[in-house]
Formats: sequence, C-alpha cells, structure tokens
Amino acid sequence: MTSQANQGDLEIDPSPLLAVLNELHSQYKLLREGAVAKYIPELAKVNPELFSICIVTVDGQIYKVGDYEQLFTIQSISKVFAYGLALEDHGLDYVLTRVGVEPTGDAFKAIILDEQSKRPYNPMVNAGAMSDDKPLRVYATTSLIKGFGPTERLNRMLDMFRRYIGRDVFVDISVFTSERSTGHRNRAMAHLMLNFGMIDRNIEEALDLYFQQCAVMVDCQDLAVMAATLANRGINPITKEQAVNKHYIKDILSVMYTCGMYNFAGEWAYKIGIPAKSGICGGIIAVVPNKMGIGVFSPLLDVRGNSVRGVKVCEELSQRLCLHLFDCSGQEAKFD
Ligand code: DON
Repeated sequence: MTSQANQGDLEIDPSPLLAVLNELHSQYKLLREGAVAKYIPELAKVNPELFSICIVTVDGQIYKVGDYEQLFTIQSISKVFAYGLALEDHGLDYVLTRVGVEPTGDAFKAIILDEQSKRPYNPMVNAGAMSDDKPLRVYATTSLIKGFGPTERLNRMLDMFRRYIGRDVFVDISVFTSERSTGHRNRAMAHLMLNFGMIDRNIEEALDLYFQQCAVMVDCQDLAVMAATLANRGINPITKEQAVNKHYIKDILSVMYTCGMYNFAGEWAYKIGIPAKSGICGGIIAVVPNKMGIGVFSPLLDVRGNSVRGVKVCEELSQRLCLHLFDCSGQEAKFD
C-alpha cells in the first residue's frame, strides 16, 4: 500500500488524519463484498481490488492512501459538475423548469419522469442528467450545456472539469464507445423524454455528450480536489481557480445531499450527513462545506450501484471526524 501526505512537493510528517486513512484502507481492503459494474462491457474489465482514499482540505493539503494514481471513468459523479455548468449557463429558475430537485427513491437508471411536469425528478438520475434545452434553440440541440455544435459543447464541458481538477482531462474512448453501443436503456429514456417534448431532436447527440461526460478519466485525488472545490465556495484549493460561480454551490450541494446516492440517499443523509455523489465506476465524492473534499475509489458495488468500501469509509470518516452536518452533540468537529 502506498500512503503519502503532501502539500505541493513538500513531504510533511504523517498526520493523525493520514493515520486514520491508512487504518481505514487496511481495514476495508479486506472487505470483498459487491461486484463491479458489468452493463458497460469495458467497465467489467476493471481490477476489483483497486482501492484508494483521498482527502483534500480547503487550504490545499492532500492526504491520500492506496491506488490514488489509478485512472478510471468518472461516470455519474460527473452529473454534479454538469448541473453546475447548466446553472451557470441558464440560471436556477430556468434549470428548474427543465429538471426538478425531488429525490426519487428509485434506482439511477429508473425510466421515470414527473407525471405532472414531465420533468426528470432531479439532475442526479440519468434522465435529469440528459435533460435538453428545447426553448433555447439557438444552442441547436442536446443538453443544457451551451455551445454551438457538439465539439464546442464537449470542449466547454472538458474545460469545466479542468477548472475543478487543475489539469486537462480526456475522454476514455473505449468506455465511451462501449457505453454508446450498449446504452439502450439510456436511449429508451431519451425517447421517453422526446415523447414529452423534454428533448428537442438530436437524441444521439445528446446521448453522445452524456456518454462522453461519463467517460472522463479521473483518479481518486482528482475526486477529492473536485469535492474540495465545492467545499471551498467553488475555488479549486490547489490552483485557486474559480471553477464554478459560488452562488450555485448551495444548489449543487442541496441536490447532492438529497439525491446524490440514489435510493440510498435518505440513509446516507441520516447516517453520514454530508452532500455526496457516487458513480458506477466505484467512485464517491463527499463534501464537507468550508472544510474538505473526500474522494474514495473502489469498484466493488452494492445493489444500488454505490461503492461498498466507499460507503463504509465515508461512514467511518463521518463518525470519527464528526462530519455530519447536523451533529449537535456538543463535540467540536475533530477535524478542526
Ligand atoms: O448512465 C449510465 O448508465 C452511466 N454512464 C453512469 C451511471 C452511473 O454512474 C450511475 N451511478 N451509480
């Protein structure tokens, strides 16, 4: 196991926080419950043993253990950041007319729209993540991400990820094409939205952008830096670049809190108590506002599509560091 704490190039002494991460890593690497996602053939090839944990504080300290340099595709975690970009592009009022903010209690892939408004329930489920921009036809097609044509939209999305992560990012072409050629369920959902007039016309283009967004390559430290950026009012704590307008942080964190863990969101909010988002890749991000971002990567998933080890690690971190947002037990947050 590799473990390290660094700030830029400076090695600093192992801290109590790093000791906690090392302990959790040793403890939970023995946990082999769950299974890797197989419905996208390329994802099934991942090594199930991979496991990393990273914390990045809002003052830019990095604590990481395990396979933190291993790249994987971001999958549904990307929905958080795409939602932020849609809010910046259109403002909250308009985005709310296209995508709701109600938890579904259903699986991420459930083929459902709000009966009354015909909107997807929230931006964290697949239909919400693909929502289209029908009234603003000037942007020609597909998602709420603005841009003249698919290339510009893709580039704007990649640039958004660059701001959060602090380096250029790339789409894994094998995962993208693997999902594009097998993503019939998402295609069915897109057709349902077309039927209700929530997607304008070019379904394949909307799906392509969504599949590309899901296939962006990240590592565990990237996840923690992205989460720390949300914890730090939208400013990347390493590069100091503003990744997203700070006015939208509360909107992003609110839907993460209520909808980010799919049909586990209620229990997560109850037990762990911090905004989070999981992906079928095995990644989880969790945001402790004004303190830190947490990233965990382990591809073994439970039946809801959340990383088994990731959920356990976040649960323990929340308890040990008193991170639950509503913990009023009188104890000062141990992290402070
Ligand atoms: O829409 C899909 O099927 C995937 N590209 C993303 C799904 C995902 O990560 C759901 N997360 N738990």
